[in-house]
Amino acid sequence: MAKLGRELAAKGINVINLSFGEPDFHTPQFIKDAAVEAMDKNFTYYTPVSGYPDLRKAIAAKLKRENNLDYNFDQIVVSTGAKQALANALMVMINPGDEVIIPTPYWVSYSEMVKLAEGESVFINATAENNFKITPEELEAAITPKTKMFMFSSPCNPTGSVYSREELAALVKVFEKHPEIFILSDEIYEHINFIGGHVSIAEFASVKDRTIVVNGFSKAYAMTGWRIGYLAAPKEIADAADKLQGQVTSGSCSITQKAGLAALEGGLKEVHEMRDAFLKRRGIVHELLSQIEGLKVNLPDGAFYFFPDVSSFFGKSVDGQTMNNAEDISLYLLNTAHVSTVTGEAFGNEKCIRISYAASEDELREACKRIADALGKLK
Ligand SMILES: Cc1ncc(COP(=O)(O)O)c(C=O)c1O
Repeated sequence: MAKLGRELAAKGINVINLSFGEPDFHTPQFIKDAAVEAMDKNFTYYTPVSGYPDLRKAIAAKLKRENNLDYNFDQIVVSTGAKQALANALMVMINPGDEVIIPTPYWVSYSEMVKLAEGESVFINATAENNFKITPEELEAAITPKTKMFMFSSPCNPTGSVYSREELAALVKVFEKHPEIFILSDEIYEHINFIGGHVSIAEFASVKDRTIVVNGFSKAYAMTGWRIGYLAAPKEIADAADKLQGQVTSGSCSITQKAGLAALEGGLKEVHEMRDAFLKRRGIVHELLSQIEGLKVNLPDGAFYFFPDVSSFFGKSVDGQTMNNAEDISLYLLNTAHVSTVTGEAFGNEKCIRISYAASEDELREACKRIADALGKLK
């Protein structure tokens, strides 16, 4: 969708891009300064496969300070984005035929990574009625003797849903009955959370030693292009990830690692400013989308996405063009309203579209107006 949007933009059409999964803010200046300093100090050589020890120690300190999680620095593996950390975790854990339970909607790459690891994805359909979160009963029902892992994100991309401590505790009770199942917890949106503090499932002692926490810098610090993320895991898993990464990409970029270190040591002022801006935008977009008849809109608790249900428009037409599914709606909005979104099918949900609000307030107001006009024409 982003590519089609760029093609329209190249023809001079004013396309508002709400399909991107990245903050529209610049990386804070003190982080960029640290990168320049790293180059000047010649941090330009190969790095240790799992990352510079000072960075891994700073990550362990962050996990203690912000998440109350105890990890030694040798349980941390720094990678080229949280994406590589997720891939490492799946590659070292999953054998052919192992089942990985993934609540839908889920981030696009999860099921593809499971496929690459020769595992089988088992989906649990989380519904809008339950704020796109699964229940303990649904989790229990999805478990089979082949289940190796449960993989999820909270806050979630694409729904923005956030599991509360109580909701995680209820899921943990199910895992306590199944001590053979590992948990892959993607916490990349940790800091874009509008309901108070983030809760990591690894905080529950009964599952900590079989949980792999993945986090990074892309979303919190607006550092998507720097490519840095990490996993924190039981030592054997971290060692295996180190071995794998050593044969694939080696250590991540030296300059980026020094920038990441500065980010962790620099406090959360900028991170919170960005979160507050997202919160304000969420309010604007929620108010405007809620006024559109036929659109079912949840209020997301985190991340920077809305995931409205557009299924009431299926079967409706304009100018001989009929909307049969979410992809038709997304394409219609792009071609007619010149607003680019992403079809829910990409995230394992056929009724919704994803609208990112990582854009300016003016763009968001204009985009919502265009969406309302376009959907209003469908009869
Ligand atoms: C849920 C989720 N996990 C992981 C990532 C990857 O993050 P990174 O840029 O650190 O690789 C993304 C990026 O969009 C994401 O949405």
